[in-house]
Amino acid sequence: MSILVTGGAGYIGSHTVKELVNQGKDVIVLDNLQKGHKKAIDYVNFIKGDISDENLVSKVIKEYHIDRVIHFAADSLVGESMIDPSKYYNNNVIKTIKLLDTMIQNHVKKIVFSSTAATYGEPKEVPIKEDFETNPTNVYGKTKLMIESILKDYDMAYGLKYISLRYFNAAGAYESGEIGEDHNPETHLIPIIMQVLLGKRDKIYIYGDDYDTVDGTCIRDYIHVTDLSNAHILALKALENGSDSSIYNLGCGEGYSVKEVMHTVEKVTGLKVNREMAQRRAGDPAKLIASSQKIKKELGWNPKYSLYDIIKTAWKWHKNHPNGY
Ligand code: UFG
Repeated sequence: MSILVTGGAGYIGSHTVKELVNQGKDVIVLDNLQKGHKKAIDYVNFIKGDISDENLVSKVIKEYHIDRVIHFAADSLVGESMIDPSKYYNNNVIKTIKLLDTMIQNHVKKIVFSSTAATYGEPKEVPIKEDFETNPTNVYGKTKLMIESILKDYDMAYGLKYISLRYFNAAGAYESGEIGEDHNPETHLIPIIMQVLLGKRDKIYIYGDDYDTVDGTCIRDYIHVTDLSNAHILALKALENGSDSSIYNLGCGEGYSVKEVMHTVEKVTGLKVNREMAQRRAGDPAKLIASSQKIKKELGWNPKYSLYDIIKTAWKWHKNHPNGY
């Protein structure tokens, strides 16, 4: 029996595929390559196509004896989701419903779902626990929360078992430097800093230094992509062992400000980050820090990479691939 990984050519998807294959699992990647990179997964069974293509997904499930799914495929830019909500409701929500329906029709009833800290919105306190109020402040977060609600209903009605993983700030690259983060456009802090160091941008703008934090800049919980991959594998194992559906946060439980991230980059690389202060970016919460106690306790997850390691691996990837894949 094999595992279907949707969006497996994307950033977190490709890192998870690598770990699955390392562990000797049979993996099929389904990706429409709108954002993903074929080069990231050129060693594995790959089908170019869309999760909403019911005929294709049914055929893949039958042909490769799929009995479980890890579902990464989604649009994930917060800013874009506010400008073009239709794209997000269609590509994330409607297409996921189609995928789930095709799974159910083919008796595939185990799924690990890629969710986000954006489901919480601006938290009242940190660290954030899974039972905190969900109040997303952007369309991207809303689509992920809607899908979680759909998963719950599908569990009750059709016995679909799911584990939803709410990532905080995914960062870093595979330790060997073979695969890493390559988004177009790039909006995330660490890869943008790397582009400045590589001379691809003049400078980075710090979005606001008047937040109620240690140094006025926003605080985030950065989690290494390989630690995220391992959480997906543990979640899949739990479902294989008959676990009930569940939702887990994935973060280190430690927050770093934008300025602290920059200092760490300068320490790791020995280079100066050219920066300029700018206005706040709309919709940025001041402080997001995860409590990941639930997944640690229930699934034995244990993140291994520090912010230092995250930046070291990201730097290795970006230095060796200044233009991405
Ligand atoms: N930042 C800058 N300058 C930049 C880019 C980012 O100062 O050029 C700051 C942001 O304002 C923020 C921090 O760096 O304070 C991190 O920003 P990212 O864009 O890297 O990440 P976000 O925290 O905005 O986004 C992450 C995930 C999203 C998720 C969101 C939930 O990447 O998928 O958290 O809030 F939706």
